[in-house]
Amino acid sequence: MKVSFYGHVRQYENIKAEIDANMQEVIMSGNFTLGPVGARFETQAAEYFGSKHAIGVGNGTDALWLSLMALGVGEGDEVITNANTFFATAEAIWIAGATAVLIDCDPKTKCIDPTLIEAAITPKTKAIMPVHLYGQCADMPAISKIAKANDLYVIEDNAQAIDGAGDTFKQGELSDVTCTSYIIQKNLGCFGDGGMVFTDCDKVNAEVRRLRNHGSTARNHHSYGFNSRLDDLQAGVLSAKMKHISAWTDQRIAWAKNYDKGLAGVKSFKLPYATPGYRHVFHLYVLETADEATRDAMVKFLQDAGIDAKTHYSIAIHKQAGFPWGKGCRIVGSLENAEHNAKTCVSLPLFPELKQEEADYVIAKCIEWDNAQA
Ligand SMILES: Cc1ncc(COP(=O)(O)O)c(C=O)c1O
Repeated sequence: MKVSFYGHVRQYENIKAEIDANMQEVIMSGNFTLGPVGARFETQAAEYFGSKHAIGVGNGTDALWLSLMALGVGEGDEVITNANTFFATAEAIWIAGATAVLIDCDPKTKCIDPTLIEAAITPKTKAIMPVHLYGQCADMPAISKIAKANDLYVIEDNAQAIDGAGDTFKQGELSDVTCTSYIIQKNLGCFGDGGMVFTDCDKVNAEVRRLRNHGSTARNHHSYGFNSRLDDLQAGVLSAKMKHISAWTDQRIAWAKNYDKGLAGVKSFKLPYATPGYRHVFHLYVLETADEATRDAMVKFLQDAGIDAKTHYSIAIHKQAGFPWGKGCRIVGSLENAEHNAKTCVSLPLFPELKQEEADYVIAKCIEWDNAQA
């Protein structure tokens, strides 16, 4: 049996009429950028997220660095984040001209370890950028407390956790800005690239809107800016999909529970940790093996069996050859948990449209692997 990692086509088939209708509306309107469908989606997204503003941008990376720029964070400033994330988190800090200060993650949740933040703060520190990795929110109450005490901005990298929440807090509630990615692989994905900035701050809203559109506030008037708009076709796709996101998340959580139950007895690898009370949206269901060699062998075993297992992310940020050392990066403390995570992570296929026989097959193969390790 073949089990793919994503269910994009199945998802489209399930809501084809809704998506097609929105795309037709855009095509027939003749408005493809900053048009009415895009504006309507921004209103819908702000209502859904519970923020005063939602600004559509070209992708999740742009959402992050345009937010940093809008907050005035740039050259000479430092932004603290965790070393185990998708490259774009640190890349966005660097594009904004600031230095990414990398600290370790919590060994269980894999999100930034808030107890390590204070030691990384210097007079240059301007912001903390927690990543809600794999679909689980970082410890926002602890992060926000440190930010308030040290007069720092908090920007949530929510590319992987749309529709998630903490036990006592919602996303966006304890930060200045929340950024998301709508690339197709995400839980809410368009048909290409897309991103969004959520904020209650009027100044950030106005500034991101200006920056995303060639620095323009009125026709023919420009100051320094860029081109990073969410186009209306993508907004139409997302508008249709957003109506289903909560149901899709519930289905993801159900599949995660199904894996938890089926794999409860395994001995050679650990199952993902979900913080009690949090709405972990399982963007990724990530196992932890004993070491790198075992991980590579397990991924190969699953792939040979037709299961598209993957690794997220097998090279931590500070181990990336292409990162601009000296210019854009500083490490604080040991990054042993981030490095361990990079060496031991295995992601199993998990998406709302997964079928029971596929999930059963994945479980059976993981158990077969586990038995062979004894
Ligand atoms: C944690 C994280 N941050 C940022 C991004 C960047 O988003 P994009 O690819 O839309 O630029 C991604 C995903 O791609 C991500 O997973």
